[in-house]
Amino acid sequence: MPEYDPLADLYDLEYDHDYDLPFWLALAEREDRPVVEWGAGTGRLAAPLAASGLDVTAVEVSENMIEKGREKGGAVEWVRGDMRAAALGRRYGLAVCAFNSFLCLLSLDDALAFLRNAKVHLEPDGLLGIEVSAFAPEELCEEASGATLRHDFTRESSQGTLQRFSVSRYDAASQLLRMLLFYELYDRAALQNKRMHELTIRVVGRGELELMLRLAGFEVEAVYGGFEGEPFTAGSDHLIVLARRS
Ligand SMILES: C[S@@+](CC[C@H](N)C(=O)[O-])C[C@H]1O[C@@H](n2cnc3c(N)ncnc32)[C@H](O)[C@@H]1O
Repeated sequence: MPEYDPLADLYDLEYDHDYDLPFWLALAEREDRPVVEWGAGTGRLAAPLAASGLDVTAVEVSENMIEKGREKGGAVEWVRGDMRAAALGRRYGLAVCAFNSFLCLLSLDDALAFLRNAKVHLEPDGLLGIEVSAFAPEELCEEASGATLRHDFTRESSQGTLQRFSVSRYDAASQLLRMLLFYELYDRAALQNKRMHELTIRVVGRGELELMLRLAGFEVEAVYGGFEGEPFTAGSDHLIVLARRS
């Protein structure tokens, strides 16, 4: 079962931000060609990109996430598929792999398989944009007393109040960050739903990402540390790499 299937109903409540949208929108308008989003989730980005008049294909492995995306309506072309191997039968001017979808690829081979597949789906001068979280070393270190339960956030919406807690453990040898996520959804004070979910991502740094892109046949065009085009530094929260098919 795709990892995100059991989270699809909470996803838009959990991730209600859109601070990254102007960046991707400006890039798509600049490139001005059809866009494919790999690991598109519920269409958090794909839906508004399509609403702005762009031709957008969204590839997603979780049927439940796609269902949520389709409920938003609009002109997104949804494809259920694995970004490592999906064959879409057409090419795009811009490919987007945003908000840690790339970190769902848990090995070097998986990451390279995706990059090679992304290349095949780009026009000869097409652009690939990848954005992942940039983790500070202290975020990956366990306290001396061992992994601790953290309160990650509280989200208020018409659906109710969502609380998320987590326990994370990072294995530096495999670069795998294993997270146990605990969700509590309240309607006013009454607990409506409570669940636990295990999620694993593979932490990737700038050098590794650039090298993988080169290996897969891309030329890195820009590296940013934020959505305003800030330089990437040790203190950046985001790592954004734009690479052109070479
Ligand atoms: C953190 S979410 C990001 C979703 C979206 N990009 C966004 O900005 O909201 C990661 C998404 O990648 C999808 N995903 C993970 N591995 C995938 C794969 N091999 N092929 C396609 N989608 C995948 C997950 O199902 C999930 O919906």
